[in-house]
Amino acid sequence: MRVVALTGTPGTGKSGISAELEKRGYAVLEIAALIDSLHVRTSFNPEYSSREVDTDELRTKVDGHLSSMKPAMLFLSGHLSHFATCGTAVVLRCEPHTLHERLRRRGWNEAKILENVRAEILDVILVEASERIKDVFEVDTTGREVTSATDIVLDAVGKMPDSLRPGRINWTGEIEEWF
Ligand SMILES: Nc1ncnc2c1ncn2[C@@H]1O[C@H](COP(=O)(O)OP(=O)(O)OP(=O)(O)O)[C@@H](O)[C@H]1O
Ligand SMILES: [Mg+2]
Repeated sequence: MRVVALTGTPGTGKSGISAELEKRGYAVLEIAALIDSLHVRTSFNPEYSSREVDTDELRTKVDGHLSSMKPAMLFLSGHLSHFATCGTAVVLRCEPHTLHERLRRRGWNEAKILENVRAEILDVILVEASERIKDVFEVDTTGREVTSATDIVLDAVGKMPDSLRPGRINWTGEIEEWF
């Protein structure tokens, strides 16, 4: 089975694109649901009101769970999905001002929003995925409809084009404006 991590900073559009992929008949599993159902160890970080996951345990338990599954291709969706064993990762990206606006609309506090904007500018998820996964692609969701972003995700996975390999998206020039 080909496992594709659909990952990216919170707010980049993983859930929206996952729903669209399911609508088109693709198999999608939410990594957060697996973390719960497989009882992967987590701890709560009060500073960011977020939970931290034991990524070694995540990998072992999720890999074990997936080994019994049958679809030819499975999308594993969520910002921790690239810690499972995947041959391919699609890292969703979003321009920092747009990301800030998306997260603000959720009612998140400014500290939590800025932590995620910083992570997006610094390519944190891209680096984590590239350290672990052979074929990594980036899809910029800024200013795109979910349907069009989904088309590009499927292009990345299907055609593996050089044009979607890492290196073209660079928001580091914005770091001084933000921090
Ligand atoms: N092209 C796009 N693709 C996906 N989502 C988009 C796009 N354009 C705008 N959005 C919007 O971005 C917001 C965040 O999307 P979503 O909730 O899917 O993010 P997420 O990556 O799943 O975040 P989290 O990691 O917190 O679950 C939503 O309001 C969604 O409608
Ligand atoms: Mg989501």
